[in-house]
Amino acid sequence: MKRILPAVLATVLFANPLVSQAPATDATKLYLGAAWYPEAWPESRWERDLTLMQQAGINFVRITEFAWSAMEPSEGHYDLDWVNRAIRLAEKHGIAVVLGTPSAAPPAWLTQKYPQTLWVDQNGKRAEHGNRQQFNWANPKYRELSAKMASVMAERFGHDPNVIGWQIDNEYAEVSYDPQTKKMFQDWLRTRYGTLDALNARWTTSYWSQTYSDWSQIPIETKYGNPGLLLSWKRFISDTWRSYQKNQLDVIRTKADRRQWITTNMMGWFDEYDHYTVSQDLDLASWDDYVGSGHLNAARNGAAHDLTRGFLRKNFWVMETQPGFVNWHANNNALDKGEVRAMAWHDIGHGADAVEYWQWRSALNGQEEYHGTLVGADGEPVPLYDEVARVGKEFTAASHELMGTTVKSQVAVLQSYESRWAINWQRHNRQWDPVDALVSYYQPLRAEAHSVDIVSPSAPLDSYKLVVAPAMNLLTPQQTANLMQYVEHGGHLVFGQRSVMKDEDNSLQPARQPGPFAAPLGGRVEQYYALLAPVPVEGAWGNGTSAIWAEQLSAKDDTETLMRYGKSNGWLDGQPAAITKKVGKGRITYIGAWLDENTAKKAVHWMLDTSGVKSAWPVMPEGVELSLRESNQREIAILVNLSTETKTITLPGARKDILHNGESVTSVSLPAYGVAVLGNQ
Ligand code: GAL
Repeated sequence: MKRILPAVLATVLFANPLVSQAPATDATKLYLGAAWYPEAWPESRWERDLTLMQQAGINFVRITEFAWSAMEPSEGHYDLDWVNRAIRLAEKHGIAVVLGTPSAAPPAWLTQKYPQTLWVDQNGKRAEHGNRQQFNWANPKYRELSAKMASVMAERFGHDPNVIGWQIDNEYAEVSYDPQTKKMFQDWLRTRYGTLDALNARWTTSYWSQTYSDWSQIPIETKYGNPGLLLSWKRFISDTWRSYQKNQLDVIRTKADRRQWITTNMMGWFDEYDHYTVSQDLDLASWDDYVGSGHLNAARNGAAHDLTRGFLRKNFWVMETQPGFVNWHANNNALDKGEVRAMAWHDIGHGADAVEYWQWRSALNGQEEYHGTLVGADGEPVPLYDEVARVGKEFTAASHELMGTTVKSQVAVLQSYESRWAINWQRHNRQWDPVDALVSYYQPLRAEAHSVDIVSPSAPLDSYKLVVAPAMNLLTPQQTANLMQYVEHGGHLVFGQRSVMKDEDNSLQPARQPGPFAAPLGGRVEQYYALLAPVPVEGAWGNGTSAIWAEQLSAKDDTETLMRYGKSNGWLDGQPAAITKKVGKGRITYIGAWLDENTAKKAVHWMLDTSGVKSAWPVMPEGVELSLRESNQREIAILVNLSTETKTITLPGARKDILHNGESVTSVSLPAYGVAVLGNQ
């Protein structure tokens, strides 16, 4: 039956450009980019830079994210002509532009005239000029000034055909503890809790006589305070970053074409704010992917990609990555020859549509003189340039095949900032790291299933056959309902250690773990133990150990015990360590042990098997990472060998070798850091 739109809805849909013109956030090609700072160089140099970029296959630059003093040299006097000239010259070289709003680096005239825009640390000391990120994210004057700058930029470039998108600010990080911000926090609490009685009850402030009789008594605490207060401050920080961002974003949205997307560059596992809160107004998620010291850790780094893909549940951009090495680590070793290329393909495999190198060339002075670049201090290519140029050629060759593809997963791992914070404030065993816990499940899951989504417990889950929650310490009522519904609809939900202990105010649930899931599971956590040494476990997943932490479980008759502890502290001896139960069409499993690698592999194999997750692809040899990107018509396999030995992989059928003129192959041999991009025949 043809559905007819009600007239009122039709008017809204077609009159509102925000609805009728969806933003073109889905890339039309693979992008390779460089962070370029034209303001640091004479204009006569730009042509050479852009020529070298073009020769390397670089097809976008990000500019202006620190160029406020060049764009507004004195208050109200704007100079955007040079930006326009840079955009035009880039266009001549076939290089698109992403514009950064410059609020991460306010000019000296601004902070001198409006010192209230500088952040204040916890000891009351105000930041000074000379670094960056010295602004106060909550300050109304700063918001006014940064929105004005964004507005002038959007007016000038919002319809520019060579500007494809916007990055707001740069790596949100610093917050302020000044009295005005404290008052804003207290007002935020009043809005959230309504009355002091409600707040006092939900934070159990009778403990240590913390009961508040006036909103102005409530302090800012970041470490040792009441758990409800700590969590509230983090939520306030997140909401304040969101509104800080929206302040600029709204201005750009009103003035710019909808095809120009808006993002901000986030930072992987960084957890100073809730990235789900801050992402929701963006068109595109992006992150800055730095190895720092050592070499690419495919699991931890791959999980950070998947985390970023989960913010908006679609492809994302790597907005910065290291051209070989950084300058801020204790040992800034370079990635091996070939590793930068391997890393670029690892990014694409996980759903990135762009990779940008930070930076093109080091400023001759400034804090980052030693950082890796693509051209040297003399402006000519460094050894890595050719490797990046190879990536450029390969991106061009594979672009058409990869467009319209994304990562599709039958398995989700749940991640929540609130749970991470809750655990990190009270680790109980200092070694218990929530990101390590997540990766301990993610790594074997991905090795066998080849695609894993990392999403919030608030995300829609029905499309997954298996949902693993490694450390869901804190759940809101809405999240609890979401997980219950997932099981009711036939999903298999697996909880890891420390799950479902806290409520939405970071209070203990007045129930044993896993709270409301204990009844349907027919089992619960009787006691948790921080461990000095690993304890033995045995059962359906063989013989192994649990390290760092062990939860003594109990199981009712019709709940299956999968693993039991061996002899250890007496309390745990012979007690259930992992239990499972079919619940209606679905299943709940609880794993109370931190399993060693080998046992975790078997546990994961059991989970995938029990949930009906299958892949046509076999498990790859050690060191080889397989990623799959799919559309309705295509499956693209990206194989990256991160080991130092040659590895041969037999394919599940004939494939088209996209980087080798599409020749048909049934196996590939990958040297160290070798890459293969394979499509359907
Ligand atoms: C990022 C930052 C860049 C640059 C880079 C160096 O965190 O966004 O501006 O400083 O680090 O690795």
